[in-house]
Amino acid sequence: MCGIVGYIGKRDVAPLLLEGLQRLEYRGYDSAGVVITGPKAAGLKMVKAKGRVRDLEAKVPARFKGTTGIAHTRWATHGAPSDENAHPHMSGDNKVAVVHNGIIDNADDLRAKLTADGVEFLSETDTEVLVHLVARSQADTLEEKVREALRLIEGTYGIAVLHADFSDRIVVARNGSPVVLGIGEKEMFVASDVAALVSHTRQVVTLDDGEMATIKADDFRTYTTSGTRTTANPTTVEWEAESYDMGGHDTYMHKEISEQPDAVDRVLRGRIDDRFSTVHLGGLNLDAREARTIRRIKILGCGTSYHAGLIGAGLIEELARIPADAEPASEFRYRNPVVDPDTLYIAVSQSGETYDVLAAVQELKRKGARVLGVVNVVGSAIARETDGGVYVHAGPEVCVVSTKCFTNTVTAFALLALHLGRIRDLSVADGKRVIEGLRRLPGQIQEILKQEDEIKKLAKRYADAKSMMFIGRVRGYPVALEASLKLKEISYIHAEAYPASELKHGPLALIEPSLPTVAIIPDDDLLEKNRAALEEIKARSGQILAVAHQEQEKADHTIVVPKNEPELDSILMGIPLQIFAYHTALALGRDIDKPRNLAKSVTVE
Ligand code: M6R
Repeated sequence: MCGIVGYIGKRDVAPLLLEGLQRLEYRGYDSAGVVITGPKAAGLKMVKAKGRVRDLEAKVPARFKGTTGIAHTRWATHGAPSDENAHPHMSGDNKVAVVHNGIIDNADDLRAKLTADGVEFLSETDTEVLVHLVARSQADTLEEKVREALRLIEGTYGIAVLHADFSDRIVVARNGSPVVLGIGEKEMFVASDVAALVSHTRQVVTLDDGEMATIKADDFRTYTTSGTRTTANPTTVEWEAESYDMGGHDTYMHKEISEQPDAVDRVLRGRIDDRFSTVHLGGLNLDAREARTIRRIKILGCGTSYHAGLIGAGLIEELARIPADAEPASEFRYRNPVVDPDTLYIAVSQSGETYDVLAAVQELKRKGARVLGVVNVVGSAIARETDGGVYVHAGPEVCVVSTKCFTNTVTAFALLALHLGRIRDLSVADGKRVIEGLRRLPGQIQEILKQEDEIKKLAKRYADAKSMMFIGRVRGYPVALEASLKLKEISYIHAEAYPASELKHGPLALIEPSLPTVAIIPDDDLLEKNRAALEEIKARSGQILAVAHQEQEKADHTIVVPKNEPELDSILMGIPLQIFAYHTALALGRDIDKPRNLAKSVTVE
């Protein structure tokens, strides 16, 4: 999705902005642009380019000097990717420039009115209406001009505005799209994602929806869109700038897969309480008495986070015996759900900014529900909107496809399920057993990572498949769903996931030698049932790649993973299939970190 970066201070601004844009590349974009000014610059200077940040960099002239500027990576919504549609957008008199993330819903109406008033539009974007509204405002201050313009628009935005007549400041505003201020030494930054700031400062202020800010080189203030001052509470970003680097790996995905032993270690760290065979989850804001009154748990997330939620629901039912289920937040928010006072809702999100999840949380809160978050990005919108929750501590995930966050989110759910279980009916012995299993996870993930070479060979073998089937039963089914998503996202091979029990109810019709099946077969009480499914596939000459705790006779190939406690096996069984998807995509020459048509955080509807 789109990215914003801005700077005001004494340094040469263009290289800083370009570096910031590079750090936002992972979010997905199709064009980029930058506008600058400064005490010695006459007016605003702008460069835009369709394509990558390096294409923009190539167009920036040598004498592109200034000390204040805003820049943008655009993900096309209104109008095709082009130089004209790239942000920033500038007013006809070259005085006002705006970068915008989000969607202005009433842009067509505003455009028609402005056009009727003689305004000439240079792009097809919704954002350009905002520029003209700011430029036409008769207000005395830039803050008031922006406020007047925002009063006229409906929709979502994270914006940064630069004005040639007010070149000592940048005005920013947020409604539904993240805006973070970075506080430096006599310099200030703004961005839509801390990734663009952390190499310069880790002191940040995250704006709330309905909040605006004025940043100057040595000062900033925050206020509401109606002008009331707000209190800004700077926080320190825990992630180091280096965690955004590739660290010697060829891709972020490879790096993030390899980081999983450490990441899982982090989600466990400081939380296990051996004395009571339970875990402490500091930010849950749910005491034991309240936990005992929960009648149901509903988990909401999108994509990979939804899949992690499915595993989480299974863990909660198994360990805490609370009825639980997961649903895509994108569906939930549109079906006028019954919101039950005895249900605990849990929103899951790596980024903490996914619009569908945030909208579901806001709807639930409006109806008085208690909502917890299972989130990776500290201080993100979902983390702040929820009543409490569990941070998954995976560290920054840069690759568009999620790997380590999935594993950490599922592990965080295991902690939550254990915590709730021990408050309810889970025995001390079972609590101890699960804790020992959790402690074994980092070492077992390391063992799986050591199999990369063999998995790579298998990936090459299956890479020419046009389509693949993924099956699993009960605990294995969400693993199959996630593995199939991983494969399709980065290799573009069509993949379907089905409960193995459903094969004979339809999908068996697809099985033939050219459609390989990946089967998740834990060594649990359903092992024999799963083996029967393999028989059915073999009888139709289907190829089988099994992920199992022991070699599967009916499978053509088996990836053997270490066995943990049955409740925790799902955490491990997805990991070889992340490696499988990675090497399949590599064999097919795909752009692994930035798969086509996808963005890292989907902050629009
Ligand atoms: O940041 P979130 O966890 O809320 O993102 C949700 C999905 O957009 C995300 O998991 C998506 O499915 C990824 N491409 C998965 O690899």
